[in-house]
Amino acid sequence: MTIPPSVSSTLFSELKTKIEERRARVGVIGLGYVGLPLALLYSEQKFPVTGFDIDPHKVSTLQAGGSYIFRIPPTEIQSAQTHGFSATTDYSRLDEMDAIIICVPTPLDEYHDPDLSYITNTAKAIAPHLRAGQLVVLESTTYPGTTEEVLLPILEKENKRMLTASRGVSADQQQFYVTFSPEREDPGNQTVARRDIPKVVGGLDAQASELAAALYGSIFNRVVRVSSPAAAEMTKLLENIYRCVNIALVNELKLLSLRMGIDIWEVIEAAATKPFGFQPFYPGPGLGGHCIPVDPFYLSWKAREWDFRTRFIELAGEININMPYHVLEFVAKALNQQKKALNGAKVLVLGVAYKRDIDDLRESPSLTIIELLQKEGAHVCYNDPYFPTVGKGRKYDLQMKCTPLENLGQYDCVLIVTDHSDYDYERIVRESQLVVDTRDATRGISSPKIVRC
Ligand SMILES: NC(=O)c1ccc[n+]([C@@H]2O[C@H](COP(=O)([O-])OP(=O)(O)OC[C@H]3O[C@@H](n4cnc5c(N)ncnc54)[C@H](O)[C@@H]3O)[C@@H](O)[C@H]2O)c1
Repeated sequence: MTIPPSVSSTLFSELKTKIEERRARVGVIGLGYVGLPLALLYSEQKFPVTGFDIDPHKVSTLQAGGSYIFRIPPTEIQSAQTHGFSATTDYSRLDEMDAIIICVPTPLDEYHDPDLSYITNTAKAIAPHLRAGQLVVLESTTYPGTTEEVLLPILEKENKRMLTASRGVSADQQQFYVTFSPEREDPGNQTVARRDIPKVVGGLDAQASELAAALYGSIFNRVVRVSSPAAAEMTKLLENIYRCVNIALVNELKLLSLRMGIDIWEVIEAAATKPFGFQPFYPGPGLGGHCIPVDPFYLSWKAREWDFRTRFIELAGEININMPYHVLEFVAKALNQQKKALNGAKVLVLGVAYKRDIDDLRESPSLTIIELLQKEGAHVCYNDPYFPTVGKGRKYDLQMKCTPLENLGQYDCVLIVTDHSDYDYERIVRESQLVVDTRDATRGISSPKIVRC
């Protein structure tokens, strides 16, 4: 998409030059798992970066040169500080920014409907400080239409300077630029460098796309432009729905395979040798994380507005949500084989993070499994090297402390829910009475004590 000269404004050219010369001041709103690494990437590339967050604890930790994300060492924060990185709760500093990137949460509410309150609150907080020539990018995962139907109206109505978003029709000096660009990070994935994950951008007009492409082109090796914010929003959802549906498929096939006495992991490994047309997905104890269990429902909700039922999403959701109940049933069965009841049994759950080697427990199936086990009368402890304690979240209130990985023989069952690579599975099997493995973490270890489920 090239910009016709008639609609290319001075503001546009100024910002583009600033970005190219790395003089553009970048403001990142929401310094969580997505926003903080992004802010550090810009800082590494010598952009002046300011991080904004409403959580004063996060801001003061960063100000003191500390980190609250396991895989980001404090030295990275301190190095960014030497390049001018700072964090603040003060939105008035948005005036100073040339580009504002929004990375706030997009959870579901208690009825499984989108909770856009973080986006609307952020838009309301930005609007009074908006000035002509700024680029605003939304990165939070959301349904197609959010940028134009939710974010944009607030920015246009509530800014103090009567600014409007650039829509490619005039070179008005009272304009700002709006783009959607989804975050594609895969926490814990060491195989692809963040720079090598292509960045999709969909601007409200060609100028907004061009500016966002220049901004992201400074830190990513490839930028992929799509025609609108809605196309970019839908791209992210397609990616996550694809994962969610395929995980549900292997979860269902696992249940059948267990009944048929077939090892589903062996089957997946064999199928994955096909050089085309097959991508492996792995079964597990249920879906976790901020994305895969949540994002597909953003589209189901939006589809209702169009009298449309997203049946694949609903079916996949039903299968995946059921997996923790399947684990509960298997633990009970495995104990029963040993003439023991679940009620009163001592169960050690290994791993509360939602996946291997990360310090994130949002939507983790472990939390549901612990609650289900407790409801049945089991005495549950957990171990997770990434979580010394588990307190209260949006959907759980466990108030538990990490138990050391000692005296494993005292437990009636050791249940592997998250397959952290730090665990010595040979030792765990050797010392335990019974191991129920939901992740195939004990592959290669042969013992009658192991029950794979
Ligand atoms: N975590 C991932 O791996 C991942 C991957 C791809 C996409 N996403 C998407 O990125 C978005 C952010 O996810 P995350 O994992 O970084 O969330 P997070 O909860 O780790 O971080 C969000 C941050 O935003 C802050 N915040 C909330 N409201 C704010 C406001 N009004 N002003 C300033 N700060 C505010 C919170 O305090 C928090 O620090 C979500 O839409 C998510 O779906 C996440």
